[in-house]
Amino acid sequence: MADIPFVALPLHNGGSGGLIPRGARTVVFEQIYWVFLVLGTVVGVVVVGYMLWNAYKYRDTGGTDSDAPDIRPTPGELPQGSGGGKKLFVSFGLSTIVVVSLIAWSYGTLLYVEQPTHPQVEGPAEDVETLDVRVEGFRFGWSFEYPNGHRTNELVVPVGREVRLHVTSRDVFHNFGIPDLRVKADAIPGQTTETWFIAEEPGTYRANCYELCGTGHYAMYATVVVLPPDEYDRWYANTTAS
Ligand code: CUA
Repeated sequence: MADIPFVALPLHNGGSGGLIPRGARTVVFEQIYWVFLVLGTVVGVVVVGYMLWNAYKYRDTGGTDSDAPDIRPTPGELPQGSGGGKKLFVSFGLSTIVVVSLIAWSYGTLLYVEQPTHPQVEGPAEDVETLDVRVEGFRFGWSFEYPNGHRTNELVVPVGREVRLHVTSRDVFHNFGIPDLRVKADAIPGQTTETWFIAEEPGTYRANCYELCGTGHYAMYATVVVLPPDEYDRWYANTTAS
């Protein structure tokens, strides 16, 4: 890592110990959430705290308190003695570092989300094939098509494996999203939108339509079933083209 320029460090993508979060979308977006929440809280506490401290320090004491002499400038007098702009320089410098680092880190993180494949941090990533599913929206429901031609209205996927969705629409604009798995992609007739996810827990999730597409929009959802790998393999072995 030593020969990577400092500014490029947040973009450094090699090794799982890097600054860029790896893994399922849920992990990545949770990291983004926490980084922004913690940094925002720290900056907010410092700024509001400094402001309150100054409001207290320079409060109106009526000019009678000898411990806190009245140092307010009178009209026409130039303010003096704040260290030759040092405070201004430090605050601008700190803001620049925080903002530029956040931009670089978020950009690197989103590049990871958008890259073609997403090997899991743990496990033999290379020999785990991705599962490709074609998702087609229609008024008002979803159809899922598997590599063997099996079509269903319920998305069944294995846990821990990267699922690549190829999302399109048969009629009008829709938008396919599974909120719990942080998945969202446009479904547009004549186009295919690619997205991906890795489900980390077996269970049942819900996919919704996120584009107002007509009177049945509110009811345009599908069930997403996440199975343990062996159960999924058994399920898939029993499916046929339809
Ligand atoms: Cu489809 Cu809203």
